[in-house]
Amino acid sequence: MLVAPSLLSADFSRLKDEVIEITEAGADLIHLDVMDGMFVPNITFGPPVIKALRPHSHLPFDVHLMIEKPERYIKEFVDAGADYLTVHVEACVHLHRTLQEIKSHNIKAGVTLNPHTPIESIINVLDLCDLVLVMSVNPGFGAQTFIPSSLKKIRTLKNYRMENNLNYLIEVDGGINEQTGKLCLENGADILVAGNYIFSSKDRKQAINSLKVLK
Ligand code: DX5
Ligand code: ZN
Repeated sequence: MLVAPSLLSADFSRLKDEVIEITEAGADLIHLDVMDGMFVPNITFGPPVIKALRPHSHLPFDVHLMIEKPERYIKEFVDAGADYLTVHVEACVHLHRTLQEIKSHNIKAGVTLNPHTPIESIINVLDLCDLVLVMSVNPGFGAQTFIPSSLKKIRTLKNYRMENNLNYLIEVDGGINEQTGKLCLENGADILVAGNYIFSSKDRKQAINSLKVLK
C-alpha cells in the first residue's frame, strides 16, 4: 500500500519542515490540496507554494486540484513541480482535452469524483488516466468522516481495470485511518491519502507505517 500524507492537515506556518518530516517518515507521495473557494468552500495554496516546497523532497508531488476550470492552470502546476495532476470531473467541461493536455507535459494525469458522482461519468476517459482518485468525503476540508459507499466505487474501478487491461492507480482520499484504510485495501485501493490521521498523530512515522503495512 502506498501512502500519501495530505499537507492540508500540516502546520501551514512551517510547511517546509513538515514536508521534510513526512519524507523522512516514509511517505510514498506528498498530496497537495489546491482549493479555490469556488469549486469547494475553502481556499488553500497554489503554484508558488508548491514550487517553494519542491526542492525539499524527492517524493512525487500528487497535486489534487479542487478548482473550477483547472485547464487554465495546467502549465503553472507543471512548472511548479507536480508529478501527478488530478482534476475533478465535475469541474471540467472538456475533461478529455484537459487530461490530454496534462499528459502532453509528460506528467501523470489523474481524474477524481465527488462522492455523489457515478463512475460512468469517467468511463470514456479511463484509458487516459494514470490515476483515479475516489473521494471518500466531500472535498474542501480535512478530518471528515469516511463515506462507506466509496468502497463499492473502488471495487468497481478495480474490476473494470482488470477486465479492460487498463493501468490507472486507484487512490482514496478522505477520512482514512487504520480501519477505513484496511477496507479500502480490501476493495482494491493502491494509494491512501491521509491528512488528519497522520498529522494529528504524535508519531507520524508510526502512523504512516500503520497504513503501509495493511494487509
Ligand atoms: C479534502 C482533501 C483531502 C484531505 C483529507 O478535500 O482532498 O486530501 O486532506 O483529509 P483527511 O485525511 O483528514 O480526511
Ligand atoms: Zn485531496
